[in-house]
Amino acid sequence: MLHSLTQLSSLLSDLPKGQLFVLTDSHTKVHCLPLFAEFIGENPYLLLTLEAGEEHKNLMSVQVVWDFLFKHHATREAVLINLGGGMITDLGGFAAATYMRGIRFVNIPTTLLAMVDASSGGKTGFDYQGVKNAIGTFTPPLATLIHPEYLHTLPATELLSGFAEMLKHALIASKEEWVKLLQLAQEELQQDQWVEALSSTGALQASMAIKEKVVAQDPRETGWRKILNFGHTVGHAIESATLENNPQPHGYCVLWGMVAEVYLSVVKAGCPREVLQQLTQIMLQWYGRPQCDCRQREQLIARMYQDKKNNANCSPNFTLLEDIGQPLINQHIAEADIDEALEYLFSV
Ligand code: GLY
Repeated sequence: MLHSLTQLSSLLSDLPKGQLFVLTDSHTKVHCLPLFAEFIGENPYLLLTLEAGEEHKNLMSVQVVWDFLFKHHATREAVLINLGGGMITDLGGFAAATYMRGIRFVNIPTTLLAMVDASSGGKTGFDYQGVKNAIGTFTPPLATLIHPEYLHTLPATELLSGFAEMLKHALIASKEEWVKLLQLAQEELQQDQWVEALSSTGALQASMAIKEKVVAQDPRETGWRKILNFGHTVGHAIESATLENNPQPHGYCVLWGMVAEVYLSVVKAGCPREVLQQLTQIMLQWYGRPQCDCRQREQLIARMYQDKKNNANCSPNFTLLEDIGQPLINQHIAEADIDEALEYLFSV
């Protein structure tokens, strides 16, 4: 359920005293909590802050949240507000989903990536054994509250990371949104104007609506929701491969993954080549080439085999496109074809 942050107070109206908890990271505590405080009004809350960064999205941080809730006598009536990017909404969501068999949580995403993707749809979790989001649940938040003003607090890389997921939503669902985003990608605007344009063109709202609609059809990803994994089979492999020594923003990895997977879509599913050219152009203009080199192609393919989206004994499972807005799920692609797509990605 998507709402505006202005609805926060009414959402918390029946909450017993001492049962409101807020989770931030070290960045959102500084940049986002002050604005949040204006909306929370007279409601007293207890604050917990975790160190920012994907490397803290682990079991130890989950335990810190559980300990905090225990220490302050959180009951099953408690509400945890997750104020942050995907690390906070995923991890806080998991801690809430499992504390006392589950308490309510509200996500207030502060990054573009979290607004359009992580904060809605009910996926919670943390990284384990070097695998992203290896442990988690499907638990919908009580609400996701959107406040586009937060986008003005972000550096350009964060905005581009989220924009990649918006491109994904357009590719899997809507030619109209794709054209809108192509225009936005070409605009020569100051960053603040560009952020304004995300809302004023309706692109942000449309992107969130695409995700909501897909999740409503298949909340536990038994089938159709897999279209949201477009770009992620290759993207996750790049992200995991670079995690330890040279971590890359999630959205950049997804963008790179989409280039490889649109290539496969052209070769295997008849997707128009023009889509590949348009996406490649966006990559070269805004994201650059992937930050891991060709020698890692074998290693990347091996990682695709380990992906949690696979069934046992199958080649990696892709979502491909017949065209924009026409995704195909459960496409098993041979190693030689994946290698060819990676070669395109690294050498274009
Ligand atoms: N991020 C993809 C999904 O929520 O299914």
